[in-house]
Amino acid sequence: SAVNRRPLRSCGATAALSVALLLSSCTSSGVRGAAGSGGVGDPLFPSLGNGGYQVRHYGLDLDYDIKKRHLDATADLTAVAKTDLRSFQLDLQGLRVTEVQVDGEKAEFSRKGHKLTVRPAEGLRKGAEFRTRVDYDGTPQEMKDPDQSTEGWVKTRDGAFVSGEPAGSMTWFPGNNHPQDKATYDFTITVPKGYTAVANGELRSERTAKGHTTFRWHSGRPMASYLATATIGRFEVHTSRTPEGLPLYVAVDPAEAKASKKPLEKLSEIVKWETKLFGPYPFASSGAIVDDTPKRIDWLALESQTKPVYAGAPDTVTLVHEMAHQWFGDSVTPKTWADTWLNESFATYAEWLWEEREGGKTPQQQFDALYKDTKDPDRWAFPPGKPGQAKNVTGTPVYERGAMLLQELRNAVGDKTFFTILREWPAEYRYRNADAQDFIDFCQERTDEDLEPLFKKWLYEKGKPELTD
Ligand code: ARG
Ligand code: ZN
Repeated sequence: SAVNRRPLRSCGATAALSVALLLSSCTSSGVRGAAGSGGVGDPLFPSLGNGGYQVRHYGLDLDYDIKKRHLDATADLTAVAKTDLRSFQLDLQGLRVTEVQVDGEKAEFSRKGHKLTVRPAEGLRKGAEFRTRVDYDGTPQEMKDPDQSTEGWVKTRDGAFVSGEPAGSMTWFPGNNHPQDKATYDFTITVPKGYTAVANGELRSERTAKGHTTFRWHSGRPMASYLATATIGRFEVHTSRTPEGLPLYVAVDPAEAKASKKPLEKLSEIVKWETKLFGPYPFASSGAIVDDTPKRIDWLALESQTKPVYAGAPDTVTLVHEMAHQWFGDSVTPKTWADTWLNESFATYAEWLWEEREGGKTPQQQFDALYKDTKDPDRWAFPPGKPGQAKNVTGTPVYERGAMLLQELRNAVGDKTFFTILREWPAEYRYRNADAQDFIDFCQERTDEDLEPLFKKWLYEKGKPELTD
């Protein structure tokens, strides 16, 4: 907005700036305050993201040479300054930055680790909307998570498998790489003819010229960076609509086509069933990306927004899990990485409800079986609400004990209130962020039971919770 666009001059300028502002802007390092640097203050990933601004929109223009594994790219970010900024930082791991512009003017930049520090020619005022354009290129590298699994831009035989939980998006685009900063996205991805580039949202156009095809994808609802994908390869593409009219885009690596066929036929039915349980599907389209991936991708799937990515043919229950994340995780996103149980407990509980529907165990039987089982030493390794270490954010307790917590909640509040919570929680926090306390408060408002002991025991206390009857 023009009103907020009043620029701050460079340090030392004598123009009509207040002395106070000059002092606060130009002391010591010249970088004003911590807001423009460091991370957003995540308890488990303190160096991720930046609290000084909020991105509204990412325009990512990616040109990928599959043979040379070379990416030639431009990121065009529209953001709002949350405070006066002399400089700010983006997250970008590897690659070469050739130029940065802020509001059309060349900006100075420097790099250290995964931090790209940008110093605009003119400082930015709190509340100002500004555009940052980063030109960059190189060979994106995959990265290892704290839990030693592989993520980021992962080379495949015929392109790249791209997934970013928790940190991997910074291997292929510069951004505010923290779930708190949700933005809309446009992707323009150019690949050699014969290959397909699949990103989040809806396909706006697909044009081939001079041996290259450009795919334009639009993701019009806020999305956390870890949910972005730009998976590239040779794919069999099936587009359709659910009977309710939701567009589906399903891309399958031919090597996985046979094994994927049956489960993927269930996609419509899963969306419909989950819509009944969780309320309106939050996005304008859905689908799946099934790729043939290297062996070191030892986990199966990620709930990338609108189109989960599957590292190999998924089974139906995995589809159910990733689709449930569209409500729990993608639409309602944790405020920090300490709250992944808000994603995984619901996605796991969705599996339990599906299995029951298919004539399998009831959720209570799933609970009992896990409670009794002594084979998995990880099950009680940490309480899901206090993962404590970065490697735990997708650890077993976040899934299993998280779902057990939901079963205990169901037992405490009764079916009617429980299933109301399953629908109203995603409605209340749609497209936003939430944390454990938000959920606890939300549930407490809907019942006369005192839920504090239950949450304390299942979410925060170490060791195996004791059962009360
Ligand atoms: N959120 C994904 C799921 O539950 C799991 C991602 C695992 N990623 C990882 N780097 N360990 O479907
Ligand atoms: Zn999950």
